[in-house]
Amino acid sequence: MHNFNLYLPTKLFFGQNRLSELPQVLKPLGSRILITYGGGSIIKSGLLDTVKKSLRDFTLFELSGIEPNPRITSVRDGAAICKKEKIDILLAIGGGSVLDCTKNIACGAYYDGDPWDLVLDTSKITRALPIVDIITLAATGSEYDAGGVITNLETNEKRAIIHSLLSPYASFCDPSLTQSVPAWHTAAGAADIMSHTFEQYFVKDGNILTDGFCEAMLRTVIQMTPVAIKDPNNYEARAQLLMASSFGCCNLLCIGRSASAWPCHAIEHEISAFHDITHGVGLAIITPHWMRYSLNTETAPKFAQYGRNVWNLTGDDTMVIAREAIDRTAQFFTEIGIPSKLSDVGVTDKHFEEMADHIPQCWSPLTDAFVPIDRNGVLEILKNSL
Ligand code: NZQ
Ligand code: ZN
Repeated sequence: MHNFNLYLPTKLFFGQNRLSELPQVLKPLGSRILITYGGGSIIKSGLLDTVKKSLRDFTLFELSGIEPNPRITSVRDGAAICKKEKIDILLAIGGGSVLDCTKNIACGAYYDGDPWDLVLDTSKITRALPIVDIITLAATGSEYDAGGVITNLETNEKRAIIHSLLSPYASFCDPSLTQSVPAWHTAAGAADIMSHTFEQYFVKDGNILTDGFCEAMLRTVIQMTPVAIKDPNNYEARAQLLMASSFGCCNLLCIGRSASAWPCHAIEHEISAFHDITHGVGLAIITPHWMRYSLNTETAPKFAQYGRNVWNLTGDDTMVIAREAIDRTAQFFTEIGIPSKLSDVGVTDKHFEEMADHIPQCWSPLTDAFVPIDRNGVLEILKNSL
């Protein structure tokens, strides 16, 4: 058993009709609120109006148009508003992109230079505004973690910013708000949750408890995603996906285990930085190829364990079950409507060499992954995914 730290400071308000509690949660934090949101889904659903009406006792400002794969330019705009308007609280309403951007704004508001400096060097983060969020998409787990992911199109970099000051103060997770998520993003979100789980499950040393947490996460997503896609208003399916989302990245799944190098995320972030694809879609395409790359006689028992406990596969031949588990994973992603090739989402091999070169600047070495992946390994996975 490996030593571990676990700190989960965010208050989760999970379930229907919890937004009535929002004003009392915000009140002790201040009176001037910057509401941040994306391209308009919360206007269309009426959520923005509802929230604004409930906050009529506060002074409200808005930052709209935060992009999927949020850009540093939006962070700069948000930090500038915070400084000019003396904002007390950030209220992010939307998916992981809105919340991630808001996390960078929170520390950018107290920084004199360019907020991108803080992404490159988190030791420069000394203070952050309190963040409250209303999450509307089950995927990233940003509502329950201390990280965000920001893209700089000028440098073709998509980087994680992780700092304990960036955990939301409170997250409102109402599954009914995710019922309007279209099938594409429902599927991509499911793939993201599964990938967060795979990244922490397939490591050198596990333990019975967190192997079980991970397997339960995977069974939940595999069972509930097709239901949510077929019947978008199915509250129970949306609730189970949203709950799973929140536990994917909060570090609960990795307690007592070997550290993970998060290889699929490392590779996907490089692809997104150049091609702006949907994060979960990129992960779903890469994952089966990373699994095949990682399968050998030493790792087969873990893949077979996954096959038996998640896919209910039976039989005595460990390698056969391991291969079948990987095939089932690929088939599942196809069945929920995700393309199986990077070329299907407009990716070419033009930047593969740059991507492979850039990974070591942003991630712990992939040579520490479940099966070590060197530069050639990254290129092999990328080419096989094309
Ligand atoms: O922008 P709006 O109009 O709100 O539309 C969004 C967006 O177009 C839409 N959407 C969100 N909620 C909706 C909805 N549409 C209808 N009804 C709703 N209820 O969905 C689209 C995608 O939203 P986005 O926020 O981009 O998706 P997601 O939550 O998957 O976030 C992806 C970003 O998070 C990063 C990814 O790399 C990517 O940049 N990640 C963040 C992590 C974290 N903070 O811990 C970890 C992840 O591994 C990931 O890297
Ligand atoms: Zn992810």
